[in-house]
Amino acid sequence: MHNAFVNDDAKLLRDVESALASRRQAGLDGLVGNLAAVVINVAPKDLVPAAEELLATTGLVFEAALDDPLTGDGSPALVLRDPEGADFIVRSRTPGLANPFVPYNCGTKTAALVPARLETFIFECHDLDRYAAIQRERGVAFATAAPWVTDAFSFLQTMPSAHTGNSLGFIQWHGRPGMYLHGQSRLLPLTAAKADHLWLARIGSLDHVATRVRARHRDAAIVEFLALTNYRFDFAVYVESLNSITNVARLGVGDYAQVFTSGIGSPDAEPGAGPTEGFIANYGLRPHHMAFGTDGIEEVVSGLQSEGMQFLSELVGSREEGLKQIFSAMSPQTMLVNEYIERYDGFDGFFTKSNVTRLTKATEKQ
Ligand SMILES: [Fe+2]
Repeated sequence: MHNAFVNDDAKLLRDVESALASRRQAGLDGLVGNLAAVVINVAPKDLVPAAEELLATTGLVFEAALDDPLTGDGSPALVLRDPEGADFIVRSRTPGLANPFVPYNCGTKTAALVPARLETFIFECHDLDRYAAIQRERGVAFATAAPWVTDAFSFLQTMPSAHTGNSLGFIQWHGRPGMYLHGQSRLLPLTAAKADHLWLARIGSLDHVATRVRARHRDAAIVEFLALTNYRFDFAVYVESLNSITNVARLGVGDYAQVFTSGIGSPDAEPGAGPTEGFIANYGLRPHHMAFGTDGIEEVVSGLQSEGMQFLSELVGSREEGLKQIFSAMSPQTMLVNEYIERYDGFDGFFTKSNVTRLTKATEKQ
């Protein structure tokens, strides 16, 4: 079945402008800040292995094992700390608890009811009650009737988005930022080990996460994200030969970026629709990769290779082009690809067009 749907940046930009105007009129501007943390859920048997895999492939450090600090639902969680950027909370939903992400998690190459996913992006918020009241008025569906309030922070998250399958969380710190341990926390007798390689210190903070969305949902996914945060739409890069658009939203220059990768046109699920639609058919609607900044990417990649990490592509790009990048193979525990990215001489873009083409092409192997 053919149909004529094609994404149109002029329409997107009109929708973005109206979302930003409506956000401003509602009094939301400035309420939400930068990314504080991400939540990755995995199968119970994968909890410690997934955390150890992240520790072995990033600059993150293990901080604590406790019952999930953000939901209070008793699921075990490991806090992995990045003092410079977003922290990681790796958790495993206790069997029997409802999993609202399940409708988005599955594809032809996943098991049924697969729990592995980067589920939630958590942003700082300096007045959560006001934020929640305004967004409720605007029709936003939150996962709980009221914020989860502890002595250390208040937290509220949305239901998974129909366009991305992702939830957005909002955290207001009451004391020291990054203090997940609170008065009702129960510490767990679990630990995750980290190898002592010097090159791990060359891997920096989370630079961006790219979620793959359907072509028809591109505009709605971006507009919904802008309406919930203080981000702005930055730019879109088209790769016609792969039916791919990489769309970037940022808070400010140098901040973590939220990336949405979509097809240019539908039909969505036909062969030849490109690696984006293919990935969604295979693995569901989910974040495809997490990118980490590096300082000395050659050393990082050879270190990771010597520890057995597999890659989807070669290291692509050059100092002259402004950056170098590489994709790992997908982790079977988290179903996430790691990207490593190095920028040269203040280059503040995310990719060169030739890099996007080569990297996106490499993901066809998935
Ligand atoms: Fe990327």
